[in-house]
Amino acid sequence: MIVTVREIAQLGANVLRQTAAVVPDVKSADIQQLINDMQSTLSATEGVGLAAPQIGVSKRVIIVASRPTRRYPSAPLMEPTVMINPSFQPLSDYKAKDWEGCLSIPGVRALVPRYQDIMIHYTDRGGMGASLSLEGFVARVFQHEYDHLEGRVYLDRVESNVDIIAESEYFKL
Ligand code: NI
Repeated sequence: MIVTVREIAQLGANVLRQTAAVVPDVKSADIQQLINDMQSTLSATEGVGLAAPQIGVSKRVIIVASRPTRRYPSAPLMEPTVMINPSFQPLSDYKAKDWEGCLSIPGVRALVPRYQDIMIHYTDRGGMGASLSLEGFVARVFQHEYDHLEGRVYLDRVESNVDIIAESEYFKL
C-alpha cells in the first residue's frame, strides 16, 4: 500500500468548519488508506494529534499521539492511537486552562479550557470498540482533535484574546 504525506488544511479552509461524517465501514480500503496517510502525515510533523479534516477528508477519524516534541516538550509518551467515530463524556465538571497549538494554525498558541478527566469511546482500525479514561494533557489532545470533527478549532474556545500569543513568545515561556 502506498502511503503519502498529505498537505495540512489551513485555517480558512471550508473543510475545517464542516461537521465530519460518521464512518460506517471502518475496514474498507479507502478508510484504511486514509488512516495510513494520516499516520505518515502526522509522523512528518511535530504534532501530537491529527484529525482527518486536517488532510481534507471530512470523516470522523482522529489520531491521538502524545509524545515529547519540540512543539510540546513535556507531553507524556503514548502509543499513537487511531480512533474512529469517537465520543466522550466528562468525568467531572472541572476544566483547566493550558497551552494549545494546531498544525492548521501555524505560529500561534493559546490558553484553552478543557475537561481534565474524560471517558472516551471509539472504534479501532480493526473494527473493535474500545473505551478508555483519559486525563490531563492526553484528555486535552483528544478534545482538541474531537473538536475538528465538529468543525471547531481551539481558538473558538479561548476565553480572552489576551490568552492568544505568537509561538515565538510561547517558546520563551
Ligand atoms: Ni488542531
